[in-house]
Amino acid sequence: MASATAIKPALHVEVRVLDVPGTIVRTDSVQKEVVEWLSTQFLSLRIDQEVKGYEKLQQSAAIDSIKVVDCSANNSETSIYKLDEVRLDVQTYILYNGEDGNSRSSSDDGNDEDSPHFNISQLPSKKFVGLWDSLVFDRPTPATLLRFITRMMTIASNPELDQTLLNWNRLLLLHGPPGTGKTTLCRALAQKLTIRLGGRFTHGKLVEINSPSMLSKWFGESSRLVGKMFEGIHALADDETTLVCILIDEVESLTGMRERVASGNEVGDALRATNQVLTGLDRIKHRSNVMVFCTSNLLSAIDSAFLDRVDIKQFIPNPCASAAYQILRTCFNEFVRCGILVSSEDPQDIADPSCTVSADLNFTMSDWVFMDYEYFPTLQQVNFHLWNRPHSPGRKLWSLAQRAEGLSGRELRRLAFKALALHTFADPTTVLDGLSALARVLDDEHPSFQRENGKESNQYECR
Ligand SMILES: Nc1ncnc2c1ncn2[C@@H]1O[C@H](COP(=O)(O)OP(=O)(O)OP(=O)(O)O)[C@@H](O)[C@H]1O
Ligand SMILES: [Mg+2]
Repeated sequence: MASATAIKPALHVEVRVLDVPGTIVRTDSVQKEVVEWLSTQFLSLRIDQEVKGYEKLQQSAAIDSIKVVDCSANNSETSIYKLDEVRLDVQTYILYNGEDGNSRSSSDDGNDEDSPHFNISQLPSKKFVGLWDSLVFDRPTPATLLRFITRMMTIASNPELDQTLLNWNRLLLLHGPPGTGKTTLCRALAQKLTIRLGGRFTHGKLVEINSPSMLSKWFGESSRLVGKMFEGIHALADDETTLVCILIDEVESLTGMRERVASGNEVGDALRATNQVLTGLDRIKHRSNVMVFCTSNLLSAIDSAFLDRVDIKQFIPNPCASAAYQILRTCFNEFVRCGILVSSEDPQDIADPSCTVSADLNFTMSDWVFMDYEYFPTLQQVNFHLWNRPHSPGRKLWSLAQRAEGLSGRELRRLAFKALALHTFADPTTVLDGLSALARVLDDEHPSFQRENGKESNQYECR
C-alpha cells in the first residue's frame, strides 16, 4: 500500500467531447487515449493551458478541446507542473443542451404555472460554459471551494466511514453584497463539480429553487411546498449515478430567524417553512450524491440552526481594484473583438508626448506594443511594460478601475455597457472614446466614489 507521502498531487485536465448526432462516443476510451498521449508526449503542463496537437490521436475527431484546469497541490509559486511529479486526472465530458425540459412547479394543484418553484438543468450544460472563467475574484476562491467540496464528497463516499461520528451536511453558503457573483459562482461550481467527479457520476442535475416565490405567493402553503420540494430532490437522488446539485438563492427568505418570525404576523407559515427546510437538510445529508449551494445578502436574517448546519460559509466581497480592472478589461476586449471599439488610427492619440521612450520608438509601434495588438493587456503587462506610458489605453483603464474599486461586479459590467450606450454615437468608435465614455459615466454616477473610501464601502452599501 502506498504511503501517504508517496501520493502525488492531481493535475486536473478536462477533455470536452463532441456530441455528434448519430454517433456513439466511448468517453472512457477517449480518456484512456488522452492520458496515454499526455504522459508520453509532454514533460510538463501549465494551468489554463489549452493542449493542442491531438489531431493524430485515433479518436481526435471526437475531441473538442483539452484544457489543463487545476492542480490539487495548489502551489501559488508556479503554474507549471512536471508530469513525473503529479498524477494526471483526466476527465471527459459532453455538454448537454440547456434545460432538462423539466422546469416545473413543486405544487401539484396546477394553479401556479406562472411561477415555477424550481428549475432543473442537466449538467454539464452548454448554457453554463464560460461562467467559471468570467468570474474574477481577489483570491482564488472558486478553485479553493471546488477542491474542498470535491475532497469532502470523496471522503464522505467511503462506505466504511461511520457517519454518526462525523458531521457533514453537504451545505455551502456564499454570502455578501448584491451583484458580487454568488449565484453565478454556485452554477459554475455545480458545472465544474460534475466534470471533476466524472469518474463517479455519469452526469449531474442542477435544481435551482426560487425561494421567495415559495413564501410570497403561497402564503400558508410554504411548508407543504418545501416538503414537496425535498421529496422531489430525494426522487432525483435515487439515481446514484446522478450528481444532484441544489441551488437555493436568497436562502434567508426560506430560513428566516424563527425567533423573529415568531413575533410577527406570519408566525405559523414562515416558522413551519424554516423547520421543514431544517428537517429536509437533515434527511438529505445521508445522500452521497447531493450537494446544496445557498446564497444570501443578509446573513443576520438567517436562522441560527440553519447557519449551524452550513459546512462552508464563504464571504464574497466586491472586487478590489485589480479585479475591477480585469472585469472592465474583459468588457472592453469584448467590444474590440466585436468591432464596436477599434484602436485609434492616429498613434499620437495614444503615445505619451512626455515619455522619452516613445521618442526612440517608431510611432508605428503604438502603446499597444508588447501586447496583443488592439486588446487590453493584463494588469501584470500594464505594470511591467507600460509603467512609463500613462496615456496608453491599458494605463488609462487601470486608473479608471482604481476609481471604480468597491463597485460590484454586476455594476462594473453594466458601467462598461452604459458608457458606450450613453456617450458614444456610432460603431465603430475608438478605444480612447470608449475610455472617455467610461470616465464620464463614473463621474456622473459615482462622483464621490474615491479610492480612499472604496475599501470601507467594499463591505456593503456602496451603490
Ligand atoms: N466577481 C465577478 N467577476 C465577474 N463578473 C461578476 C462578478 N460579480 C458579478 N459579476 C457579474 O454580475 C452579474 C450578476 O452576478 P450574480 O447574479 O451572480 O451576483 P449575486 O452575488 O448573486 O447578486 P445578488 O446578491 O443580487 O443575487 C453576473 O452575471 C456577472 O456578469
Ligand atoms: Mg444571486
